[in-house]
Amino acid sequence: MECCRYQLIPALISLIFLCPLAHGWGVDGHLIICKIAQSRLSKSAEEAVEQLLPGYADNDLSSLCSWADRVRFRYRWSAPLHFINTPDVCNYQYDRDCKDENGEKDRCAAGAIHNYTTQLLNYGKSSQSDYNLTEGLLFLSHFMGDIHQPLHVGFASDRGGNDINVRWYTRKQVLHHVWDNNIIETAEQRFYNEDVQELIDAIQHNITTEWADQVKTWEACSETACPDIYASEGIKAACDYAYKGVEEGSVLKGKVAHTVNKVYFYSVCLREFLKLNLTADDYFLSRLPIVNLRLAQGGVRLAATLNRIFG
Ligand SMILES: *[C@@H]1O[C@H](CO)[C@@H](O)[C@H](O)[C@H]1NC(C)=O
Ligand SMILES: *[C@@H]1O[C@H](CO)[C@@H](O)[C@H](O)[C@H]1NC(C)=O
Ligand SMILES: *[C@@H]1O[C@H](CO)[C@@H](O)[C@H](O)[C@H]1NC(C)=O
Ligand SMILES: *[C@@H]1O[C@H](CO)[C@@H](O)[C@H](O)[C@H]1NC(C)=O
Ligand SMILES: [Zn+2]
Repeated sequence: MECCRYQLIPALISLIFLCPLAHGWGVDGHLIICKIAQSRLSKSAEEAVEQLLPGYADNDLSSLCSWADRVRFRYRWSAPLHFINTPDVCNYQYDRDCKDENGEKDRCAAGAIHNYTTQLLNYGKSSQSDYNLTEGLLFLSHFMGDIHQPLHVGFASDRGGNDINVRWYTRKQVLHHVWDNNIIETAEQRFYNEDVQELIDAIQHNITTEWADQVKTWEACSETACPDIYASEGIKAACDYAYKGVEEGSVLKGKVAHTVNKVYFYSVCLREFLKLNLTADDYFLSRLPIVNLRLAQGGVRLAATLNRIFG
């Protein structure tokens, strides 16, 4: 064993970087949603957000929209709150699907949106909330984004596309990461001078033109928060667009116990690396409108929810 000890650790570390477990829209996805949302806040929501944000955020919600991803390892309990898994079906039911891998109820993105909405409703009340409402705002803003990423409401067997290896142009990638990051990045490179603000402007423009008639429907919610609607749309978009044409032979064989045996996962991940082609532009070009739509809906709905919470 002496021979291997010094090689094993670097090998494991490099495996972890080769097969990262992505979670959440990438930084740009969350930033776009929070920028759109903050521009649509009512006066009282705007003030509450400004009060709740830490000073160093300089009243820019988007600068902390990926905070929840950064604390995922410090707050281990929060990891299941970033997504929802269905039992490999193209529909979603809260009672059936909103639980963590130990079966604990409410521990999913929809449950977390309800949780942090309820906490934030105590903002400004004389009785102090038991919870840190700054964290509540950052979690809510982040999970509203996640629930709009189609593969964050995905199949349990492939962990929302995390176990589906594909190629994105010249790069090896997992399908989940393609939807978190690559589609947005490729769009920025091709159409928006690598400038996320130009993409935000284009989405904002369509919110006031192309989609203007739909915006009221997106905002509609008979309670304070309506994550079940967004999750149902999400799994449908996952089936109709994200998984479509990709699943052929690309799902890793066998169910991989991710927390139990990471090393096993990573070795399977490398060995089974599949040469599935996403080189064709048609995947990118046909899916990009869905990504744009989900980013727009995420931003509009985060604003609508904060406006309902803060009155
Ligand atoms: C609700 O929020 C509290 C405080 O952050 C957290 O401890 C708890 O795990 C959350 N539960 C869910 C389902 O989000
Ligand atoms: C609330 O949470 C933020 C972010 O984790 C932290 O910086 C701040 O100190 C917390 N506030 C209190 C009163 O604990
Ligand atoms: C905006 O709408 C136009 C017309 O449908 C479409 O061509 C364009 O790709 C859209 N852009 C975004 C960012 O949604
Ligand atoms: C991937 O694309 C290349 C070039 O178009 C083709 O030769 C190859 O057979 C494709 N591989 C698969 C698995 O479809
Ligand atoms: Zn996330």
